[in-house]
Amino acid sequence: MTSGRLLRQLIKAGVRHGGHDFRQVAEEIIREERAKKHHLLANDLERILYGEYPGPRRKNVQYDIPRDRERGLPLLEICEPARDLQDIVLSDTNRSILEEVLLEQSRAEVLASYGLKPIFRLLFCGPPGCGKTLAAEVLAAELSLELVLIRFDAVISSFLGETSANLRKVFDFLEGNCVVALFDEFDAIGKTREDLAEHGELKRVVNSFLQMMDGYRGKSILIAATNHERLLDRAIWRRFDEVLLFERPNLEQIRHLLTVKLRGVRYDLPLQDRAFLNQFKGFSHADIERILNRAIKTMILKGREFLTSELVEEARKREEERLAIIAKV
Ligand SMILES: Nc1ncnc2c1ncn2[C@@H]1O[C@H](COP(=O)(O)OP(=O)(O)OP(=O)(O)O)[C@@H](O)[C@H]1O
Ligand SMILES: [Mg+2]
Repeated sequence: MTSGRLLRQLIKAGVRHGGHDFRQVAEEIIREERAKKHHLLANDLERILYGEYPGPRRKNVQYDIPRDRERGLPLLEICEPARDLQDIVLSDTNRSILEEVLLEQSRAEVLASYGLKPIFRLLFCGPPGCGKTLAAEVLAAELSLELVLIRFDAVISSFLGETSANLRKVFDFLEGNCVVALFDEFDAIGKTREDLAEHGELKRVVNSFLQMMDGYRGKSILIAATNHERLLDRAIWRRFDEVLLFERPNLEQIRHLLTVKLRGVRYDLPLQDRAFLNQFKGFSHADIERILNRAIKTMILKGREFLTSELVEEARKREEERLAIIAKV
């Protein structure tokens, strides 16, 4: 028998890509589930089908994108998520947290009837290229919502008071819409500025952000991402419902990443061989993806039929050289 989870996934995928025929079949499935007295499942499927989660049905919606008053720059960017849970390699802990978020979000109404809110404030930490932005995209895709990237370069204004006004506009936008919002590198200004006065500025912006997050009453999911978690004090961590740490992959995750990234590629690689996997130890997921892309290109250009460990090793060495140059700059 098909499980409820699979049916939900199927209808979600169909809503994204299917046409009129799909809708008819989906309605038939819902009728059948109702006849079997699976009311919760039927309600859920209906919500997915008819768009309580505003997915493609809102494609033509013209969003009124807030802008910075002084410079006229858009404060956020709306993206259509393309990748879902099958495209991301996660630690067991992170996978179960994300699945919990999805479950609570999809049952938000039931929770609300008990006066409870689903998890909606997430902090993503960890080094570059380990999946923070991708995880936000995956959450959006799984919930059939749009991904909104908040542009901190535009939000942070040199004009006194304007930064808070910009943040206010962003939060108003998020209260008026249901999306997955990613405040990427939300401590970005702390990165290049080391002196005390500017740390003060960092604190001010982060504090404004937290205050607005505390007062936030909308339905959007708020995600803040940082690779400077040490700059954030415990008080900040406590404000989030969940904190996820994205780290460089271990051997098992490297193996999984290779199978995910090599979908559709003909390869002859010793994926069970620890020594082979070990060569990727210490690289981020994004580095490994770059190595594979480099190797695949060579395979194509040299007219080889399969991706071999020799091609991969060669690409890995080239990537190491590239990273060494970057490290010197
Ligand atoms: N865990 C992962 N699973 C699968 N692919 C990944 C993963 N992490 C990164 N990638 C690949 O690397 C790309 C860049 O990763 P991503 O933008 O998510 O990193 P990030 O953690 O947000 O880094 P930054 O701190 O620089 O913003 C992704 O678009 C994806 O293709
Ligand atoms: Mg990122």
